[in-house]
Amino acid sequence: MGILEIKDVGKRFGGLKALSDVNLSVQENTCHAIIGPNGAGKSTLLNCLVGKLIPDTGSVMFQGQSVLGRSPHEINQMGISRVFQTPEIFGDLTVFENMMIPLFAKRDGAYRLHAIESVSNERTLIEEAEKMLEEVNMLDKRHMHSASMSRGDKRRLEMAMCLVQEPKLLLLDEPTAGMARADTNNTIDLLKQIKDERDITIAIIEHDMHVVFSLADRITVLAQGTPLVEDAPENIKGHPKVQEAYLGEAH
Ligand SMILES: Nc1ncnc2c1ncn2[C@@H]1O[C@H](COP(=O)(O)OP(=O)(O)O)[C@@H](O)[C@H]1O
Ligand SMILES: [Mg+2]
Repeated sequence: MGILEIKDVGKRFGGLKALSDVNLSVQENTCHAIIGPNGAGKSTLLNCLVGKLIPDTGSVMFQGQSVLGRSPHEINQMGISRVFQTPEIFGDLTVFENMMIPLFAKRDGAYRLHAIESVSNERTLIEEAEKMLEEVNMLDKRHMHSASMSRGDKRRLEMAMCLVQEPKLLLLDEPTAGMARADTNNTIDLLKQIKDERDITIAIIEHDMHVVFSLADRITVLAQGTPLVEDAPENIKGHPKVQEAYLGEAH
């Protein structure tokens, strides 16, 4: 029994079958990659896991509890966090101020941007923010405005903002899309560190095979909305069905 169990999930957009017969089990404390060509249904599947879409059929269970019908906020409270393709950070705030946002949210149950002004009284939260920044190696950048940082550092900050919530399952939708190679490698290193040091399960959607093969313990190939193959990375490389799925795409 996996930490995440997806059973017979189907989703249509009008006449288009975006997902059908999706069965997938993600084991605790592993990194499970979902790959597939453009339009395969990867983002749709992820959206079904975080309450942004409701599948037409099937079930999605996280630690034995259904996520279907719950709001994105409730699902987040259950221990599932998602990092989007574009970093969701506040460019006008410093690295440190950005970190305070999820910490306030965790303690008070609400995002309180205005509370940043009275932050100096929040000793416990400040310590928590600093500890997390140290863990992702960004403590020296705490006073930088996040808008001026590299994409790799923005991603690092976003990941830190996600991790202070102590998620059990981290969902990543193409975390290195549009990144230069140095930023991609920086993100791979961070994810490896997170995987090694935390009690966390990672499900990652990724186009960049270098990232996938650096991180994944298990890979599911999605094609036309259905899992085509699921196997260990060494068996996915060069698999004829996988090559067929990617036919016509440059990789
Ligand atoms: N909100 C939507 N309305 C209609 N069609 C959609 C919507 N979202 C995705 N699709 C379609 O569903 C299919 C799967 O899309 P998506 O999950 O974004 O694929 P991927 O992330 O693998 O590239 C595509 O054909 C896409 O055009
Ligand atoms: Mg997508």
